[in-house]
Amino acid sequence: MSHPPIPPQKPFEGVPLFHQLPKLPELEGTDPATSPQDAFRLAIADPLSKTLNVPLKDVFLAVAPGGRDSDFKVVLPRFRLPTKVDELQAQAIEAFTPNAYVERISKQGPALLYHVNMNTLTALTLATVQAMTYGEGAHIDADGQKRPSYGSNTSGRGKRIIVEFSSPNIAKPFHAGHLRSTIIGAFLANLYEANGWDVVRMNYLGDWGKQFGLLALGWRRFGSEEELKKDAVQHLYNVYVEINRLAEDGAEGEKIHEEARAFFKGMEDGKEENLVEWAKFRDLSIQQYEKTYDRLNVHFDEYSGESKVSKENLEKTMAVLRKSDITSREQNGALLVDLTPYKLEKAVLERKDGTPLYLTRDIVEAQQRWDKYHFDKMIYVVASQQDLHLAQFFKILELMGAPFAEKGNSRLLHINFGMVQGMSTRKGTAVFLDRILDETKEHMHEVMKKNEAKYAQLEDPEGTADIVGMTAVKIQDMSGKRINNYHFDWNRMFSFEGDTGPYLQYNHVRLCSMQRTNAQDGLVLPTEDLDVSTMRTERLTGKEAHEIVWLLATWPDVVRTVSRDHQASTIVTFCFKLTHAISSAWEKLIVKGQDRDDALVRLWLYRCAKDVLGSALRLLTITPLERM
Ligand code: ARG
Repeated sequence: MSHPPIPPQKPFEGVPLFHQLPKLPELEGTDPATSPQDAFRLAIADPLSKTLNVPLKDVFLAVAPGGRDSDFKVVLPRFRLPTKVDELQAQAIEAFTPNAYVERISKQGPALLYHVNMNTLTALTLATVQAMTYGEGAHIDADGQKRPSYGSNTSGRGKRIIVEFSSPNIAKPFHAGHLRSTIIGAFLANLYEANGWDVVRMNYLGDWGKQFGLLALGWRRFGSEEELKKDAVQHLYNVYVEINRLAEDGAEGEKIHEEARAFFKGMEDGKEENLVEWAKFRDLSIQQYEKTYDRLNVHFDEYSGESKVSKENLEKTMAVLRKSDITSREQNGALLVDLTPYKLEKAVLERKDGTPLYLTRDIVEAQQRWDKYHFDKMIYVVASQQDLHLAQFFKILELMGAPFAEKGNSRLLHINFGMVQGMSTRKGTAVFLDRILDETKEHMHEVMKKNEAKYAQLEDPEGTADIVGMTAVKIQDMSGKRINNYHFDWNRMFSFEGDTGPYLQYNHVRLCSMQRTNAQDGLVLPTEDLDVSTMRTERLTGKEAHEIVWLLATWPDVVRTVSRDHQASTIVTFCFKLTHAISSAWEKLIVKGQDRDDALVRLWLYRCAKDVLGSALRLLTITPLERM
């Protein structure tokens, strides 16, 4: 399992260099010791806030990248001060004294431009990456292993979140919507972990209902123990399709439906033999899902599901709802909540025969989760086709007075997403996730074989091909804004050029390989024992080096801000910016054959870039490769 960056156990107070720099004021929501960009923004905001007499927080938020990779700017009119902009500029320039953070200040339109001391930025950033990857600031796992923590923060410490995602339905296909939920949900779980939260990863299976009656009947006619052991998901689906076909028409069909209802009723009433059969289907399906999740580098802390909504709790809640003045009876006897005042239509909570619905179970399940976890936040990662369902269900909880669904202060959040169009195997047949993943793997395997020399060095070519394939699928999925639909495009996804998953892996591999070849040539850069004070960072001049440093310095802020808009595409964009910057540097910032000091410090820059790219990929649930 490849982990995202998570905060160190002990708060990291920053590298020695940080403590030699001018002291910075404290500001909530910032951590200059672990985020070099925070340090610079504070160093700029502090004196300016005094000059303008504007709260530090407001000035800090106004400090933005200035265009070149060495400038920050502050646009003055946004403070709406009575004094004229020219005058404010003159005052700020007058009050400014150069320091280790900022060299000079100038005017640009209605803004102030701060030119940072690039050597400070470079040395501070690389030393921080180093310390939080290999040194004192790294996270130490229970088994003593060091894990990179650069980019993480502790803002969520002490808070708990449930991320519910994937949630397929047993005996039905694991479709593109479930795949998206899996990819996005696993990313969000990592993201919250990187922000210091205690994360519960939950899968809410569609594992209850009359379809299990049908499935059981189908099993008697078409089931094969052998097939079930081999591929439970596929086999149960086949059985389900066949029995549905039989149940389609005529007296025979009617009879099947009747028996299925009876079987399900038996389940509801706790009939042992029915439950044993059902549990077998559920367990084997989970076992197989887990293999797929493993390939996707995804795991769950809990498999919940519609079946886990306790009968007792359902009964209790229904009793309350039946008496509540938010519900009313339809003429036909169904119990409903009229949500038309909120533009959310009418929602049925109980059928006329007294049985609960999908919606009802969600309401009770949420209460159960609250009792068990007392979460500070709960995210549902579900396709936008279910927008209405989620909105109704949150609203009803609010109307019922659930403490975690209060208006304006709700802990519930629906993260929705658009559809994937045209996701089918290349031959255009059914959509089983495993098949899709197998095909991506085979394709990547073919591509890799073409480079015989490199292929020969791979310890596990199949495993590598699988990871590259997975990366292709995930990057394609997370490149756009979540809400957009996208087209599943085999050719584009696999390309090594353009903004694709294989391109990102290729860049990571290239960075790893350069460390290896230079080590062979005797240029070894220690990890834990690197003495950063010997690194001649002032020699990292030129816009290629500066661009990389600048991006590395912004990484902690990227992680922090993404938890506001929940867009994986922001992280993907960061990865592409970084790899583009690295690509532009290859020909300018050469290591081989250079003076030793130059060579070492460049190698260090590339290694820091590799480490941050690796962290960004891991945050996206992608295992960065060292060879391919
Ligand atoms: N199993 C559902 C489906 O496939 C998704 C479940 C979403 N989560 C929830 N709490 N309703 O449509």
